[in-house]
Amino acid sequence: MISLGINYSQMHDSSACIARDGEILFAIAEERLSRAKHDARFPALSIRACLDFARIRPDELELICQGWSRPRVAFLHDLSCYASGKQPADSRALLNSTRHFVSMWHQRGGENRFRQLFGPIKGRFRFVHHHLAHAISAYAFSGFADAAVLVIDGRGSWEATSLWNGRNGRLEHVWTIPWPNSLGLFYAQFTHYLGFQPYSDEWKVMGLAPYGEPKINLRDFIIPDDNPYRVSTRLLIGKNSAPSSQIEARLGPRRVPESEIDARHKNLAFAVQDACEEAMLTLARAAVVKTGCRNLCLAGGVALNSKANGKILASGIVDDIFVQPASGDDGVCLGAALAPYLDAGGKLPVRKMRHVYLGSESSDGEIEKALQTYKLRSTRVADPARAAAEMLANGKILGWFQGRMEFGPRALGNRSILADPRDPEMNAKVNNAVKFREWWRPFAPSLLAEVAGEYLESATDSAFMVLTAQVRPEKRSIIPSVTHVDGSARPQTVERDVNPLYWRLIHEFGLRTGVPVVMNTSFNLRGEPIVCTPTDAIRTFFSSGLDSLVIGNFVLEK
Ligand SMILES: [Fe+2]
Repeated sequence: MISLGINYSQMHDSSACIARDGEILFAIAEERLSRAKHDARFPALSIRACLDFARIRPDELELICQGWSRPRVAFLHDLSCYASGKQPADSRALLNSTRHFVSMWHQRGGENRFRQLFGPIKGRFRFVHHHLAHAISAYAFSGFADAAVLVIDGRGSWEATSLWNGRNGRLEHVWTIPWPNSLGLFYAQFTHYLGFQPYSDEWKVMGLAPYGEPKINLRDFIIPDDNPYRVSTRLLIGKNSAPSSQIEARLGPRRVPESEIDARHKNLAFAVQDACEEAMLTLARAAVVKTGCRNLCLAGGVALNSKANGKILASGIVDDIFVQPASGDDGVCLGAALAPYLDAGGKLPVRKMRHVYLGSESSDGEIEKALQTYKLRSTRVADPARAAAEMLANGKILGWFQGRMEFGPRALGNRSILADPRDPEMNAKVNNAVKFREWWRPFAPSLLAEVAGEYLESATDSAFMVLTAQVRPEKRSIIPSVTHVDGSARPQTVERDVNPLYWRLIHEFGLRTGVPVVMNTSFNLRGEPIVCTPTDAIRTFFSSGLDSLVIGNFVLEK
C-alpha cells in the first residue's frame, strides 16, 4: 500500500510524508522548502517532494490521509464552547472561527486543493482524527508492543489532551480532555505574556526557567494535579481568543518583546515550567493507572517539553518512554499515513524509530554545481568527518551539511552547527556570532552512545534530543558550554550504525581531545527554518560568523 500523509490546518507546520507498506520513505515540513517558518499553507511543495522521492505519480497513490477531522468538527466544537461560555464569544472570535471553517470547508479539508494542484486521483482522500494521528505517530514508532499513549497539544479539532492504549499493534481510545482545558494553551498564553511567540517560542520559556525561583503562584490559572489538571480558561482566553487581560491584571504588565529580562520574568518562567512539569507527571501517573502499561509514548506539541519528559523518565512512574521526535503538528502526517492499517480491526506496523533522516539529500555533484554557481573556492577532502573534527578541536565553529535532512524540529547531525563543548565561552560565541539568539537558551550535546553513561545520569538512550538529563557533576566543567545552569543537558546519543559519518566525527574529535562530545545546534539563522539545500547552507554560512562549512566532501573557510 502506498499512502501519502499530510498535515494541513492553516494554523501551523504543514507537512507531508509518503509511506510504502508501512514504512515511511520520505517526510518533510513545508517550511523547509518554502523558507517560511512554521508555514501553514497547503503543503504543495512537500507533497511534490514526496512524490518525486518515491517516483510516484499522484494517480498512483492509493490513499491520501489528512491528519485532521472534517472541518465542521472543529467549527461545531467552537460554537458549543461559545454557547456554553467556556470560551468568550465576542464577534471577532466568532468571525475568525467562521472564516477558518468556510475556508477549509471550501477546500474540503484540503482535498480540493490536492485535486487542483495534482490532478485527478484514483485513491481515496480520507480524514484522520487529529489526536489519533498524533497517537499513531508515537506508538507505531516506539517499538513497544504495549504502551500508554498520551497526546498533549494546544488543540486538535476539539481535543486538548487524550489517552490511548496501544496493544499488539492496535490503539484503543481511553479518554479525552476537550479544548479549551489545554496545557498547550496555558503554556502558550504565558509564552506570549513573556514577550515571545506563542505556539513557537515555548523553548525560550523552558530555557529561562532554571534562572528563576519558586516565588510566583499560578494556581489561579492552572491546578496541575487536579486529576489530572485543570486550566482556568476564563482567566487565560480574552477577546478574539487573544491572551486575557486577566493575566496582566494579576501579574502586572507583560514583557515588551526584545526588552530586558528581569527577575520577575525569570520567576514566572520557572512557575510556568514547574506547573507544566507537575501536570505532565500527573498525566503520566494517570496513564499508567488507566492502561496498566509502564511504557509511555508521548506526542503533541507539549511533548516537545524535553525537561518535563526527562523528569517523567527519571521519576520512575514509567519504565520506558518514547517521545515522537516530530511531536508538533508536522509529525501528524506520519500517523495519518499509517492510520489505514487500523481499518477493520487491523494492526499498525510497530517498529522502533531509530532516526529521522527522512528528508531531502544533495549529491556531491549538486553541491559542486552550487559552489560553482556562486564562484566559491573550496577544498575537496577525502574524509569530511576527520577534517571537521580537526577544525572543531582547533576552536572553529562549523556548518555541517551531510546526507538526508532531519524530519522534526531538531537538527541531529545532518544539518547542524557544531562547536567545541569544552570552551566555556563557546555558548556566547555561537549565540552572538552565529545564532543571534537569546543568551539563556542552552545548546545541546551530541555524544557517542558508548560513553553516554559516563557523562549523563539518565537518558543514556536518547537519540532525538527530546529528553533532558542531568550531566554527571564531575563532567559539568568538562563540557560547560552544553551544560545548562541547573546542571542539565538535552543530549543526542549517537549510534554508530545509525549515522556512521556523524559518529565518526565525534569519535575523531574524542581522539584529539579526550572528549567524544560536540556542541550541536540547528543550522539556521535566528527566525529561519533549518537549511534544506546547498544554497540555503551557503547563504547561511556567509550571513553569519561561522568559520567553516563542511558540505558533502567540500570544505569552505573564511
Ligand atoms: Fe496537534
